Amino acid sequence: MIERRGRVEGKVAIVTGAGSTPGPGMATGRACAIVLAREGARVLLADIDRERAESTREIIEKEGGTAAVFAGDMTEAADCDAMVRAAVEAFGTVDVLVNNIGVAVAGNVVDTSEADWDRVLDLSLRTMFLAGKSAVPVMAAKGSGAIVNIGSISASRGGNYVGYAAAKGGVNALTVDMAYSHGRQGIRVNAIAPGHITTPLLYSVTGVTPETEYRQRLAAASGPLGTNGDGWDVGWAAAFLASDEARWITGVVLPVDGGAMSVTPLMMAPGLRAEPPPA
Ligand SMILES: NC(=O)c1ccc[n+]([C@@H]2O[C@H](COP(=O)([O-])OP(=O)(O)OC[C@H]3O[C@@H](n4cnc5c(N)ncnc54)[C@H](O)[C@@H]3O)[C@@H](O)[C@H]2O)c1
Repeated sequence: MIERRGRVEGKVAIVTGAGSTPGPGMATGRACAIVLAREGARVLLADIDRERAESTREIIEKEGGTAAVFAGDMTEAADCDAMVRAAVEAFGTVDVLVNNIGVAVAGNVVDTSEADWDRVLDLSLRTMFLAGKSAVPVMAAKGSGAIVNIGSISASRGGNYVGYAAAKGGVNALTVDMAYSHGRQGIRVNAIAPGHITTPLLYSVTGVTPETEYRQRLAAASGPLGTNGDGWDVGWAAAFLASDEARWITGVVLPVDGGAMSVTPLMMAPGLRAEPPPA
């Protein structure tokens, strides 16, 4: 049998927000880090909360992977610079950057406070701008690199999260603009737009637990597949986009959403599915 090399064998990856909100389920940042490590990358786990990143490191090392922790605030340019330096010091270079940090606060344009707007934009968009600013020169110097930005289907579907929607729209715009500017430097920039997946973040935002009927309702409403997605689905997509298998893919926003973006929402409502007329 032919042994398959890991998708990102020998590469060095940084994942921002590689810890996890406490609680049940698998976070997207943690999943991206674990899958990249399983696929052969050495991974720098960046998080403002050292303990959370350490927990991810333990999981990776237990599986025989290689990871290091960097604690810092990715809304600060100096910390993003230090993060990239830490990856270079620990592992020699940076090949892959997964920009994962993002936070959602419910509210419309009237009831969202300026403080919440600023916080959501800072965490969900500024972190990606600053991490890119620090990582791109290292990638450009060697003529290769892959950046994966974690967006959301909220960029193009309303849901009463005005700041989050605006931030994720910004992530998509940042992605295509960076793809253009840095393509000739050998750097690919893509985004993943997850649907409503069952992560610890989702459970903490909605206040529900996995045991409740919410999970089934979420699956039924999510799209054509009628199943729940989780952090692993994002992790696998990120590993592919980070890998050389995606060498001719840049500037795309890949929905990882059970098909939610492909269907008219009406068709997901109970009793409203269009059926052929009786024969
Ligand atoms: N769960 C969903 O349904 C869903 C849907 C669409 C998109 N997403 C996106 O997935 C991403 C987050 O997923 P997750 O499951 O990893 O979230 P998470 O909140 O569980 O983990 C994110 C990590 O980021 C860290 N962090 C927060 N602020 C930071 C900062 N300033 N500097 C450094 N680290 C910081 C936190 O400590 C945490 O460990 C977000 O971009 C979110 O918008 C999630």
